[in-house]
Amino acid sequence: MTQDALPNFSDFEPTLADEREDILAGLSAPQKRLAPKYFYDRHGSQLFDRICELPEYYPTRTELAIMRSHAPAIAEAVGEQACLIEFGSGSSVKIRLLLKTLRNLSAYVPVDISREHLLAAATGLARDFPGIEILPVCADFTQPFDLPDTQRPVARRVVWFPGSTIGNFEPDQALALLEVMRGEVGTDGALLIGVDLQKDRETLERAYNDAAGVTAEFNLNLLRRLNRELGASFDLDSFRHDAIYNSEHGRIEMYLVSQCAQQVRIGDRVLSFTEGERILTEYSHKFTPEGFAALATRAGFRLEHLWCDPDRLFSVQYLAAV
Ligand code: AVI
Repeated sequence: MTQDALPNFSDFEPTLADEREDILAGLSAPQKRLAPKYFYDRHGSQLFDRICELPEYYPTRTELAIMRSHAPAIAEAVGEQACLIEFGSGSSVKIRLLLKTLRNLSAYVPVDISREHLLAAATGLARDFPGIEILPVCADFTQPFDLPDTQRPVARRVVWFPGSTIGNFEPDQALALLEVMRGEVGTDGALLIGVDLQKDRETLERAYNDAAGVTAEFNLNLLRRLNRELGASFDLDSFRHDAIYNSEHGRIEMYLVSQCAQQVRIGDRVLSFTEGERILTEYSHKFTPEGFAALATRAGFRLEHLWCDPDRLFSVQYLAAV
């Protein structure tokens, strides 16, 4: 896929080499860690698409079911002539549903750190929705970015942030990200967001330790990526995936666990691991409706609609900028 088909493509894709210092600092800390944003190279994005299809991974299909059940109410809340800005350009099924649901949309702006994934998704959407202006932006959406100009008038900017990706940020980072969103949508803007809800440990741990091992592969792919892009020497067979629910903090914690005492090289740096030492690779926070509303309020949003599935596994929320 090339970007020739999309002349309005804005490309600010960072490489792992740009992030080398951040990665080394994380791996040198007492609790070794890697930020989850590094999961999403091409292969990582494909693996995540496969996770979304897993029987144990309830968020994707539950969010979709909520969107289908409440499509007219969502369209009513967003209104006409909106500019829809998607933070991430993950699931084409969800965005296709939304593009069909919303009325007289002025433009769709997918923002993603993974250039190839973004281009592939945006090119398909441009072909299938010729009446909507598609303006992809390749950027790290945790930082403010310039929105491209639209040809048609825009009544309201609405950020779409599905999948409960907000849960992958620590509370202060989540607040900062919600503030970036608030800045991008401006006055009269809004946020349409998927938020995963707190539930029993068993359901949660099953969702992040699937029987087919796709989540394990997704997690280990981080090390493969460091080997390829930073010249690291991780032996993938010497690390294993683990995910546990921390009920005190209401979050899944995902780790790569060293299976033996070992040393790993990253360029000219050498990192030591003890047997059983863990690299923290992801938090996935689960919220109560009240807890998320309180966080969003601090970022300048007011909850207007909360839609849930009958089992209250997941929620889709519409928050207006105040
Ligand atoms: C993208 N994000 C919302 C996923 C989650 O559920 O936290 C990432 C994921 N990690 C393992 N499985 C899915």
